Amino acid sequence: MRKFLFGLTLLLTGSMSAFAQWGRPIDYSEGPGLKDAYKDYFTIGVAVNQNNVTDAAQIEIIKKQFNSVTAENDWKPGEIHPKEGVWNFEKADKIANFCRENGIKMRGHCLCWHSQFADWMFTDKKGKPVKKEVFYERLRDHIHTVVNRYKDVVYAWDVVNEAMADDGRPFEFVDGKMVKASPYRQSRHFKLCGDEFIAKAFEFAREADPTGVLIYNDYSCVDNGKRERIYEMVKKMKDAGVPIDGIGMQGHYNIYFPDEEQLEKAIERFSEIVNIIHITELDLRTNTESGGQLMFARGEAKPQAAHIATLQEDQYNRLFRIFRKHKDVIKNVTFWNLSDKDSWLGLGNHPLPFDENFKAKRSLQVIRDFDAARDNYVPKDDWVPNPKNQPGQEYPQVNSEGFARFRVEAPDAKSVIVSLGLGGRGGTVLRKNKDGVWEGTTEGPMDPGFHYYHLTIDGGVVNDPGTHNYFGSCRWESGIEIPAPDQDIYACRTDIPHGNIQQVLFYSKSLGKMQTANVYLPNGYGKVVKGKQERYPVLYLQHGWGENETSWPVQGHAGLIMDNLIADGKIKPFIVVMAYGLTNDFKFGTIGKFTAEEFEKVLVDELVPFIDANFLTKADKWNRAMAGLSMGGMETKLITLRRPEAFGYWGLLSGGMYMPDEIKDPKAVKYIFEGCGDKENPEGITKSVEALKAAGFNAEGLISEGTAHEFLTWRRCLYQMAQSLFK
Ligand code: G3I
Repeated sequence: MRKFLFGLTLLLTGSMSAFAQWGRPIDYSEGPGLKDAYKDYFTIGVAVNQNNVTDAAQIEIIKKQFNSVTAENDWKPGEIHPKEGVWNFEKADKIANFCRENGIKMRGHCLCWHSQFADWMFTDKKGKPVKKEVFYERLRDHIHTVVNRYKDVVYAWDVVNEAMADDGRPFEFVDGKMVKASPYRQSRHFKLCGDEFIAKAFEFAREADPTGVLIYNDYSCVDNGKRERIYEMVKKMKDAGVPIDGIGMQGHYNIYFPDEEQLEKAIERFSEIVNIIHITELDLRTNTESGGQLMFARGEAKPQAAHIATLQEDQYNRLFRIFRKHKDVIKNVTFWNLSDKDSWLGLGNHPLPFDENFKAKRSLQVIRDFDAARDNYVPKDDWVPNPKNQPGQEYPQVNSEGFARFRVEAPDAKSVIVSLGLGGRGGTVLRKNKDGVWEGTTEGPMDPGFHYYHLTIDGGVVNDPGTHNYFGSCRWESGIEIPAPDQDIYACRTDIPHGNIQQVLFYSKSLGKMQTANVYLPNGYGKVVKGKQERYPVLYLQHGWGENETSWPVQGHAGLIMDNLIADGKIKPFIVVMAYGLTNDFKFGTIGKFTAEEFEKVLVDELVPFIDANFLTKADKWNRAMAGLSMGGMETKLITLRRPEAFGYWGLLSGGMYMPDEIKDPKAVKYIFEGCGDKENPEGITKSVEALKAAGFNAEGLISEGTAHEFLTWRRCLYQMAQSLFK
């Protein structure tokens, strides 16, 4: 059994989803670090606390992933300079020295801010407010002291942070009168100095660091009003000669906001006045809040729903696509905290690519494994309705390159996700257009052939009303057919005779109930020719986990493949029996315990005798074959090895491999077929077939080009295998 499972796991480990399927966690941090993946774009940073630069495992993550570090709190005026003449350099130095020792450059955050500030600067020893000149002297001394202490390891300074007013408050009361709201945050700095303190802070910073990049940093820069207030302020300052080199967009966004258009608008607007933009504090809340302040509670730590994780991955993907597009001005993207455990937003938001155990999440893979060629690619505009659509349904649509696009009417939904995604991604997230219709296109071409899928609307799984339904994943799912170069092998041709598929009900004594099977009968079956009715060999063809006896006949197109092979004279007609393989009560993670003994009784001791009794079959092993896909392949291997008297031809389709020494009596089998997709484990299959041939078995293999653990792989396998059966 161990060798058998090893063979199967070897095969299935090809496709990641299978890996996950078999319950072993995926290490998404495998591969290059983010800083390496983005070396041709911009630096990737992280905001750290003391633990992050102390714990060995966290240090390894920082060194692998990031080439820019920001002190989350320890460099802030109130933390580092709590009282006049009192400096807390210990924690600040620890982070600086960590970076010096590891050759990592830093962003200095921050020199002048309304929060966590050195408030003693505003009052004299008696607590009386001081004049702005006194405040400026103290601010200048603070900035010079901090900058001179760290400028050797710092490449950019957040000189002034969050000095502009937020949106949503066009008017304010000053001395009881309603006046147009000031564009500036009504901080103590502003009330004492007006916006001059901004200019002063930058001048002091430039004095102290003649070469450092000096940044004005703020949040909600994508909000229309705030974007314009920041633009006006920075332009005014720069026109007045204030040394502002760049703008820091904090990036405290959420999974719904901003969309690409809104983000791009801010980046392009700021690019008119600066040529350096840093995304300084990126994280994604899983609620509708955004910005540098917490309106909602931090939220208790609750597991993240799968669809929320997909929305977050998709949002990170969309944001980084825009950042890459604007790499001419975007020079750094910094995550605000190393992991969900450190996040100021609290665990309930799961806002970062590393979880509370510092394990990489799929969002890290999504951000890292981008395909630059796809970034601004526009699919060919030769869209046609999906061949699997319900009558009259325009959507979903597919194009000649294999892209798929979707339209779903759900005006009040907050999120709509199509489970079809690229390479292990969580799916394609649709966006609501102005008419309340959700639209979206797969990020890239799908693999050719048939794909099951479903929609997730606000966390609820439903089918796409546009398509027919197909039994897969233990439920009736939607289905889409991506054009394939060899789709003729399963085309429904009008120029040939067709067989038929009939459903049969047979009683299973071992299960104590009626069972269903579908039987393909070739064209001409039952005809009396010269007084005799022809008898036929029989292929017993099994489906995979989550499927049933309808899967091969319907999405497998088994009947059409047979008709085309017979019509083209590639095979002599034979019967195909497609029964339910009792696969769907199987619980993942218990693969070791799967024996298929229950289905063996139903198939060999009950269904085969039923078919031989009710159909024109050649009822002997040398006219009987068994083959199966995925879990149906597992069943085929287990049953053919335990019941060699039953079938003379064996086929495994993405369902494991035979090892020569597993087959006690080589004369027990006339032909072995093994196949899989080239996105599964082609080497395993190729080696196995060679080993079988070397051991004298009549073995044949097929590696399906450009496909994974899906039906086009198995349609091609059936088409190939059928031509060698019963020879
Ligand atoms: O240092 C004291 C500690 O002595 C005390 O025991 C503890 C008890 O509450 O508080 C500690 O201070 C906390 C400080 O973080 C250091 O951990 C403050 O309460 C807490 O409010 C402060 O929160 C920081 C927040 O800025 C302050 O506004 C967050 O960690 C930090 O992530 C956040 O970062 C800001 C950026 O600097 C600017 N943009 C927005 C961003 C999020 O608010």
